[in-house]
Amino acid sequence: MKTILVTGGTDGIGKGVAMHFFKKGDRVIVVGSSSAKGDIFYNEARQLRAEGRAIFLQADLSLVKENQRIIEEVKSRFHSLDMVVLCAVSQKYRKTYSETQEGFEFTFGLYYLSRFILSYGLKENLEKAENPVILNVCAPGMNGTVNWDDLQNKNSFNSTKSKFHGSRLNDLLGVAFAQNDTSGRIKYILFNPWAVQTSGAIEAYEQPVMKNIMKLIYKITGKQVEKAIEPIIVLLENPPKPSLSAFKQRKEVSLAMKTFDKENAQKLFNITVQLLKGFPNEN
Ligand SMILES: NC(=O)c1ccc[n+]([C@@H]2O[C@H](COP(=O)([O-])OP(=O)(O)OC[C@H]3O[C@@H](n4cnc5c(N)ncnc54)[C@H](OP(=O)(O)O)[C@@H]3O)[C@@H](O)[C@H]2O)c1
Repeated sequence: MKTILVTGGTDGIGKGVAMHFFKKGDRVIVVGSSSAKGDIFYNEARQLRAEGRAIFLQADLSLVKENQRIIEEVKSRFHSLDMVVLCAVSQKYRKTYSETQEGFEFTFGLYYLSRFILSYGLKENLEKAENPVILNVCAPGMNGTVNWDDLQNKNSFNSTKSKFHGSRLNDLLGVAFAQNDTSGRIKYILFNPWAVQTSGAIEAYEQPVMKNIMKLIYKITGKQVEKAIEPIIVLLENPPKPSLSAFKQRKEVSLAMKTFDKENAQKLFNITVQLLKGFPNEN
């Protein structure tokens, strides 16, 4: 039996992945902010008569201290982790810049910082597994640049742009992780699912008319979760040999793209370490 942790495992793509491994007989730890969705997960586990293999951890992963709490809980309760799948995201449209109570821009906190903290914080548990994998579901392979002068989009906030920007930061997170993890045992996979019919994806639009248009577009062009997770399952079960790889659905994305620049990755790593200085366990 493998142990898999899925952030955002209570809904959308994360839930699809979590339930796949759960139905296969693995132990599944899902992390989400809504306890109601956690109850639904437990009910589904009960129906499958497998409550013992279902763990829901409630946490607001936009907060550094909550990510740290989850890491400590996982460390104290589980010996090893075979897979970590990073899916937690809030795609809700934000009209204006908003900060978490710890002072980070919300999307930066949830979409990037959380994944940084969990990737490094859960390393110890992953290293105890035979073929450990981290699969970060974001949007690798997009063009565009990192705004080094305003990493958290404080000066010119735009809800959609901050998500695209967050994805570029995740590209660099993957590169830095593979660079810094000298043993190379943990395979880091950046995965772009393209358009998937999740409730979250529709929330990215504010106006009802736009929401309905997007619903229609997603209905026509988007994949259902069951279909969208197929390549994810293949990658998790047979991870590529290199310590870092990136995929847009089934197609491999070239790591020669500018978005995977090694120097930028190290630069972002150093900046992130500085940002996290002062938080316990992050020095
Ligand atoms: N769907 C697409 O078309 C698409 C396209 C490209 C990339 N992606 C990427 O795929 C990943 C999954 O997307 P999705 O569409 O499946 O998302 P989704 O349906 O919106 O689900 C998001 C998940 O994240 C959890 N979550 C939200 N806020 C949280 C918080 N503060 N703390 C902890 N958990 C939180 C949610 O649970 P709670 O509500 O309980 O918090 C839920 O389980 C994301 O990284 C997204 O960027 C998706």
